[in-house]
Amino acid sequence: MERTLVIIKPDGVQRGLVGEIISRLERRGLKLVGLKFMQTPLPLAEQHYAVHKGKGFYDGLITFITASPVVVMAWEGKGAIEIVRATVGPTNPAKAAPGTIRADLGVDIGRNLIHASDGPETATNELTLWFKPAELVDWSRNLEPWITE
Ligand code: RTP
Ligand code: MG
Repeated sequence: MERTLVIIKPDGVQRGLVGEIISRLERRGLKLVGLKFMQTPLPLAEQHYAVHKGKGFYDGLITFITASPVVVMAWEGKGAIEIVRATVGPTNPAKAAPGTIRADLGVDIGRNLIHASDGPETATNELTLWFKPAELVDWSRNLEPWITE
């Protein structure tokens, strides 16, 4: 089953939207398999956003993501990567469709509340970066047949 990394960024934690965001992913039918609350060390932030190094928004992004605690999660489900990205919405909340997390809860591209892996390779790399193997939990839900065919 596919797994993806989701981070509730410092703005989501500061604004008290942790429960709201987790609730949306839970209600979608995805399964939580990893969860931790932490202040992001600078080297981890730099590794996570290495692909954006050199871009105009990079320094601000690193300052923002390390400024305050985050909630780091692993979510599992059939097509989880794509489903989570669709639930989150596009990068800029101003351009996101109503119903998505970024549109419903945010207004600014630099304060878009949540990170989600953007593809299978990224998801694997990011899950390895943020979680030790033992922190990811295999468990069964008996309501699974009512969600996934
Ligand atoms: P994320 O990685 O955080 O899930 O967001 P994303 O895939 O939708 O967007 P990405 O292109 O990976 O950009 C990472 C984060 O950098 C900030 N950003 N600012 N000012 C800008 O033009 C700009 N572009 C990107 C956003 O906070 C974005 O989530
Ligand atoms: Mg991204």
